Amino acid sequence: MGENERTGPPSMPSVPDTDRPNSARMYDYYLGGSAHFAIDRKAADDALEVLPQSAVYAKANRAFLGRAVRFLLSQGVDQFLDLGSGIPTVGNVHEIAHRINPAAKVGYVDHEPVAVAHAQRMLAGQSNVTITQADVRDPESVLTAPGVAGMLDFSRPVAVLAIAILPFVPDDAEAHALVASYRAVSAPGSWLAISHISQVSATDEQVRVAHEVMGRTPTPVLWRDRDRIASLFNGYRLADPGLVLSPLWRPDTQISFGEAAQANAYGGVGLLDG
Ligand SMILES: C[S@@+](CC[C@H](N)C(=O)[O-])C[C@H]1O[C@@H](n2cnc3c(N)ncnc32)[C@H](O)[C@@H]1O
Repeated sequence: MGENERTGPPSMPSVPDTDRPNSARMYDYYLGGSAHFAIDRKAADDALEVLPQSAVYAKANRAFLGRAVRFLLSQGVDQFLDLGSGIPTVGNVHEIAHRINPAAKVGYVDHEPVAVAHAQRMLAGQSNVTITQADVRDPESVLTAPGVAGMLDFSRPVAVLAIAILPFVPDDAEAHALVASYRAVSAPGSWLAISHISQVSATDEQVRVAHEVMGRTPTPVLWRDRDRIASLFNGYRLADPGLVLSPLWRPDTQISFGEAAQANAYGGVGLLDG
């Protein structure tokens, strides 16, 4: 499929909300991108002032995504559904995938208009990669969107990437139901990758400020502890080394526990057994 026009429910906003800071744009700011507004930078800086590890989190998360995708490719995965894919930056999933397997298919999904517009521009003219504007909490609208249903073959293994997205689903029951919906349509041999923010080195006060700052956005976040994150892999068998601090998941270079703890995030990749 060579199409990558914006697809998704017509009710999705196509114009960014610049009255409130936005998580996708704040994340882009932490990663050193340029797709953010003054209101995003202010919120991001407010968080950084109290929680300087915020940028460490974003970079570690992005690095985890890259390692997880390379691992999945090494396992023969050639289809990716990237939920909450964000504003394109360095190390996008399709770039990593296509270096190794140009036939790999990547379906990006995000609800933020700036993320979608940037992805559309970047993907123009490219094959085997789509961007869908949709709310990942509405799996049916994601799974029936042309960019997803028309490209990914769910009768074969697919990797669902839930990288730094489940904190935006603060209700545990809803988060479990969301993961279960994508699992239900996945063939045996499919995979789920999760990274999730968690209190590891951050103090209670730092976590409180992080929640307060994100509470200014339309999408507040929830930090979950390791057990609650692990439970989201229900039905999947974790690949080695299990659910660990995300920088310690199959690291490319040696990293100490103390350094890894600065990321305040866990990551893991699970296999859906047949
Ligand atoms: C922290 S960024 C992570 C981006 C990317 N997954 C990564 O790890 O580099 C979270 C992304 O999820 C998106 N997002 C949050 N809630 C969403 C929802 N309900 N539906 C679709 N996208 C959502 C935001 O717009 C943002 O782009």
